[in-house]
Amino acid sequence: MTDEARRSAISPLDGDTPNVARMYDYYLGGTDNFPVDRAAAEEVLRVAPPIRPTALENRAFLGRAVRYLTGEARIRQFVDVGSGLPTRRNVHEVAHEIAPDARVAYVDNDPVVLAHSRALLVPASNAITLCGDLRDPAGIIGHHKLTGFIDWNQPVALLLVAILHFIADEDLSRILTSVRRAMAPGSHLVVSHIHHEGQGDVAAQVSATYDTASAPVIMRSRSQITELFDGFDLIEPGVVSLPDWRPDRATAGQPEIWGLGGIGMCA
Ligand SMILES: C[S@@+](CC[C@H](N)C(=O)[O-])C[C@H]1O[C@@H](n2cnc3c(N)ncnc32)[C@H](O)[C@@H]1O
Repeated sequence: MTDEARRSAISPLDGDTPNVARMYDYYLGGTDNFPVDRAAAEEVLRVAPPIRPTALENRAFLGRAVRYLTGEARIRQFVDVGSGLPTRRNVHEVAHEIAPDARVAYVDNDPVVLAHSRALLVPASNAITLCGDLRDPAGIIGHHKLTGFIDWNQPVALLLVAILHFIADEDLSRILTSVRRAMAPGSHLVVSHIHHEGQGDVAAQVSATYDTASAPVIMRSRSQITELFDGFDLIEPGVVSLPDWRPDRATAGQPEIWGLGGIGMCA
């Protein structure tokens, strides 16, 4: 892909609106973002410096989760909803290190993300990209591009990583009940979520900036995030701070992290 094509794929469709996928890319140190995104992200970082290490730890958690699922749990089908802009160590790259036959479906509702993902994914890599909105879970589960690619009668890993904080309270339990019903025994649900505990007014200031972006953010408490796994058996160590989920390096002396993550399994 040429640099020009790459820039045009990620360019703002609405030039004045910060885009949450590109803001996240900026936190991660990526270059697929524009002044409008950087200004909003800098405003968030000014009031909430832990957001950047939280974003980095979120990617590290996702990598460890996919390694666990491909290795110990022997999952060969991944549906990554709210996949975001391609970055380093995408899900299929991590899974294919262990199982080259693993299939990965990337799903997002943002045309900017989809254009960029389609352009960067190698067609032969057992990975596909499709447009879907988590608020319409049946539309994702029954999507024609998943037919013949994902077999819902076999164990699937559903990745809802750093997306549920963009979903309103009134939609959450309907969505989770619907996906839980579609998942065969042995399937796994991966969730990470920003939390607001101990942050006082700062959480409201972060939310206020996201209110001007492509999706508002809803921070939740540890108990609300744990409830997202109702109907699933939590895998050890449960719902914990992102760096504490099966760490592969020493976590002492870590910066403050505002994200929790966990994996649940369908019995
Ligand atoms: C912060 S990024 C997370 C990217 C990746 N999952 C990760 O954790 O590194 C959140 C992504 O969720 C997507 N998103 C937000 N609401 C969504 C919805 N209702 N349906 C599908 N995708 C959504 C955004 O477009 C964005 O790409």
